[in-house]
Amino acid sequence: MAIIKTTDKDKLDFDSAVSELSEYFSSLGARKGRALTYNVLTYGCQLNESDSEKITGMLSSMGLKESSGGELEAADVIVFNTCSVRENADRHLFGNLGVFKSLKKSDRDVIIAVCGCMMKVPENVAKIKKSFPYVDLVFDPQQIHRFPVLLRDSIRDKKQMVNISADDYIAEDSFFPIDRKRKFRALVPIMYGCNNFCSYCIVPYARGRERSRDFDEIVRELADLASKGYKEVMLLGQNVNSYKGEGGKTFADILRAASDFKEFSRVRFMSSHPKDLSDEVIEIMATRPNVEKHLHLAMQSGSDKVLKDMNRPYTIDRFLEIVDKFRTQVEGGSLTTDIIVGFPGETEEDFEQTLVAVDKAKFDAAFTFQYSPRPGTKAASFPDQIPQDVVTERFGRLTEYTNRFAEESNARLVGKTYEVLIEGISKAGDMTFSGRTITNHLVNFTIPSDLGIEIGPDMLEGRLCEVRIDHARPYSVDGVLISLKGE
Ligand code: SAM
Ligand code: SF4
Ligand code: F3S
Repeated sequence: MAIIKTTDKDKLDFDSAVSELSEYFSSLGARKGRALTYNVLTYGCQLNESDSEKITGMLSSMGLKESSGGELEAADVIVFNTCSVRENADRHLFGNLGVFKSLKKSDRDVIIAVCGCMMKVPENVAKIKKSFPYVDLVFDPQQIHRFPVLLRDSIRDKKQMVNISADDYIAEDSFFPIDRKRKFRALVPIMYGCNNFCSYCIVPYARGRERSRDFDEIVRELADLASKGYKEVMLLGQNVNSYKGEGGKTFADILRAASDFKEFSRVRFMSSHPKDLSDEVIEIMATRPNVEKHLHLAMQSGSDKVLKDMNRPYTIDRFLEIVDKFRTQVEGGSLTTDIIVGFPGETEEDFEQTLVAVDKAKFDAAFTFQYSPRPGTKAASFPDQIPQDVVTERFGRLTEYTNRFAEESNARLVGKTYEVLIEGISKAGDMTFSGRTITNHLVNFTIPSDLGIEIGPDMLEGRLCEVRIDHARPYSVDGVLISLKGE
């Protein structure tokens, strides 16, 4: 398994495939007497969302438009960008693929492609080959830069093209045309893959070994985004803190470089692993006004024994020390986490230690998951898998607990005024807008008509405003706009 950087030759192949496909789709469109469309379905995390922005960018540059109808089948190119992190994600794909059998028979020109993390699990690829021969194209997340070449070959050779590689490629963002989904927010992956091999997790198998993008390329991309008017950047990686650039550049250097662009009102990042979150990063969060005051730090369990079995190299005391440091240094900051219940061997006592840790950390929000055995991971073959009824019962108890802290975190905002970055309309009917505070609290708010602010569906997206918070809900708060900032 090697880490391979894309070359000029890869780019030439890419450009020539895009140009051949543009011609092909243009004549197909003329034959059909309509503009051709695509539909890209994205499952999973923000890294997949970022990949999908590249896939839609490539399809747009071939002359296709995004399908506007909600119907999946209406598009001419349908791409499933899959996630394999838990089992229910897998079921989704196969359920959906079945629907396309008759469509493929009736319209031989429609193209179906499947990519994403599920395609790194050999059983899934074998199942597509056997049960869904009408799928045109299968490729893994490391090969996204080859999408146009593979698509052209599958159309030209009229056969299912399966391309899964053992190598881990790294293509800079400048390699791709990118269709950014939000006009104010840019997703910027800074590193790919994961070396941590938590015993339950499929990601290191699906996304390969850790590899960092070129530091200067990232800064060039940030400068370009700033000049284009993006207000928020989200720096992405499975563990951004293990970024390793040339000349010893670290994640702290990237965070500082991003926050130096004053055009960005918000610099966000996701995710951090407790083992290598540096003091320097916490200090940058505390001192730089446009760096979010929100840390997502996965705890996974409150039991040292379970953490060890999970291959998470910290104790719960060490985790709580980091929490403490963050809470003391980043005033008013918010802390969110991921927790798994029902990991093999988790006893009632282990589970109760998780509740105790939640109590101590007082997370502002928690993503809670029922353990899902992933074939090929170490934990899938651990003895002592926990019966589903026990998992369900613990999961219920945990979410009740974490929801209480989330609600309390939201309640602390009530009666105060916060700066909010507007994301768009949340309820079109009554023109309620939504946005986030720098602590990542979700705010829904109305705009009093006597302020005389011109409002339209996406006129306010990316603007900063002051909102007075009046009411707390479990996952959001409600408020009223006090004033609009800037411009
Ligand atoms: N790299 C990130 C980190 O370590 O913080 C997490 C990425 S993972 C996509 C998101 C979350 O999914 C994990 O933190 C974990 O809680 C959960 N997860 C991963 N594998 C899982 C599994 N087999 N069953 C249940 N939850 C799982
Ligand atoms: Fe999965 Fe662990 Fe890597 Fe996160 S750090 S992606 S949980 S293996
Ligand atoms: Fe899923 Fe792959 Fe992300 S498994 S969570 S899409 S890295």
